[in-house]
Amino acid sequence: MGQGRSYWITTFGCQMNKADSERMAGILESIGYTQANAELEADLVLYNTCTIRDNAEQKVYSYLGRQALRKQKDPRITLVIAGCVAQQEGEALLRRVPEIDLVMGPQHANRLETLLEQVNNGQQVVAINDHHILEDITTARRDSNVCAWVNVIYGCNERCTYCVVPSVRGKEQSRRPDAIRLEIETLAKLGYKEITLLGQNIDAYGRDLPGITPEGRRENTLTDLLRFIHDVPGIERIRFATSHPRYFTERLISACADLPKVCEHFHIPFQSGSNEILKKMARGYSIEKYLKIIQKIREKTPNAAISSDVIVAFPGETDEQFRETLSIIEEIGFDQINTAAYSPRPNTPSAEWSNQVPEELKIERLKKINSLVEKIALQKNLRYSNQKEEVLAEGFNPKNPNQLMGRTRTNRITFFDSKGPDGSTYTPGDLVDVLINNVRSFSLSGTPL
Ligand code: SAH
Ligand code: SF4
Ligand code: F3S
Repeated sequence: MGQGRSYWITTFGCQMNKADSERMAGILESIGYTQANAELEADLVLYNTCTIRDNAEQKVYSYLGRQALRKQKDPRITLVIAGCVAQQEGEALLRRVPEIDLVMGPQHANRLETLLEQVNNGQQVVAINDHHILEDITTARRDSNVCAWVNVIYGCNERCTYCVVPSVRGKEQSRRPDAIRLEIETLAKLGYKEITLLGQNIDAYGRDLPGITPEGRRENTLTDLLRFIHDVPGIERIRFATSHPRYFTERLISACADLPKVCEHFHIPFQSGSNEILKKMARGYSIEKYLKIIQKIREKTPNAAISSDVIVAFPGETDEQFRETLSIIEEIGFDQINTAAYSPRPNTPSAEWSNQVPEELKIERLKKINSLVEKIALQKNLRYSNQKEEVLAEGFNPKNPNQLMGRTRTNRITFFDSKGPDGSTYTPGDLVDVLINNVRSFSLSGTPL
C-alpha cells in the first residue's frame, strides 16, 4: 500500500507513546513505506500526540498547522493524528483541521494498516471507540538496537482528579505473561540487552487476568511477571515503569533485590508532600506510606536510585503545602524528579474547581522546586565520583563521536571514551565498567577501566 511512499512519525509524550510509535512504524514499513529524510518531505505524516498538560496539546496544533498548509498544495499527502489528543478530540479534530485523513486513539495503534485502507478508499476516518487491544502481529521498528520497551499493561483504572490518562487510554488491559515472554525472547535473539516493562500503573499488572495461587494469592502480579521473564538468555537488564505508591508491595521490593537483572532504579511518583493535597488528588496513599516504601527499598537495596513525578500548584495548594513537598524532596534525596505546574485538563474533576492557583504563583513554585531538584540531584550524583559503574552502551554521544553514551544500572546517563586503556574499542550493546570522573546534576562522564 505504501510502495514508493515515505513516512515520518513525530512522537510526543510518554514511553507508552514511544512504544506505540515504534509499532506503528513497523506496520508502515511492513506495507512498503520507507522512512523519510525530513518531516516536510514525507508522503505520510503521523503525529502521535500527548495531552497530559495544555502545553503538550497546543504543541500538536502548531505542528498540524504546517502540515495542513503542505496538504493544501499536495493532496497526496496523508495526515494521521494518533495518540491521546486524537482520543480526546475525536471528530472535533476534523472540524478544526479538515486536511486530516485519520484520527486514531491509542487503543487502535495496532490497527493502523486497516485504518489506512479505509483512508485509501477515500474516507476521513475517526477510530476512537473502546477497543480490545490485539496482540501485535507485526514487528516494531525500534529506535534502539540495545534497549527496548515492552508494554505489559495498557490503560489505567485509577481516577486521580487531575489526570486525563484514564479517559484517553481506557480501561486496564494486561497482556498475557506468555505473550510478553515471547516478545522478550524475540528481542534477545535480535541482540537487545535491556528491556523496560511499561504501564501507566504497572503495579496493576495482571489484576484483569484470571488466576489465584494455591495459597490464595492473586497470580500474575508484576512480581510474578518479573520472576517469569527473568531468565531469558541474552537480556542483561530489566527495568519497569511507572510504579504507583498505592499498590507498591514489599514482595516486589524483595523480588527486585533478589533478581540480579532487575536494575536498582525505582520511578515512583509521589505528586505532593501534603496529605490534604494527596487526598484531593485521590491518590489513595499518605506521605507516611510513601516514606515507608522508600525506607523498605533502602533497607533491601541501599544504593537504589529513586526518581519521581511532582505536581506543584494543584488547586488550593497553600504555601505551607508547597513547602511540605519541598521538604519531602530534601528528606528523601531523590536522584531525579519530573516536575510540572498543574494544568487543568478536559473531563477531569479538579479542572472545574474554583480554587485554581494563579499563573504567576505556578511559575514561581515551579522555579523554586526545579532549583531544589537540581541541587539535590547533584548532591546525589556525587556518590558516583571516582566509583566504578557498569554502563550499558546505547549509542554514540551526539556531541562527540569518540564517546559512547549509556546508562548506569541506576539509570544515570553516562558518557565515556569508546577506546579503553588497553586499546580495545567499545560499541553500542557492550556492558562496560566505567570509572566516573565528572559529575553533573543530570549526567556523568568517565573512562572505561
Ligand atoms: N501513571 C503515572 C503518571 C502518568 S502522567 C502516575 O500515576 O504517577 C505523568 C506525570 O504527569 C504525572 O506523574 C504527573 O506528575 C503529571 N501530570 C499528570 N496530569 C497532570 C496535570 N493535569 N497537570 C500537571 N501535571 C500532570
Ligand atoms: Fe493518571 Fe493517576 Fe492513572 Fe497515573 S495512576 S495515569 S496519574 S490516573
Ligand atoms: Fe501523554 Fe498520553 Fe502518555 S497524555 S503522558 S502520551 S498516556
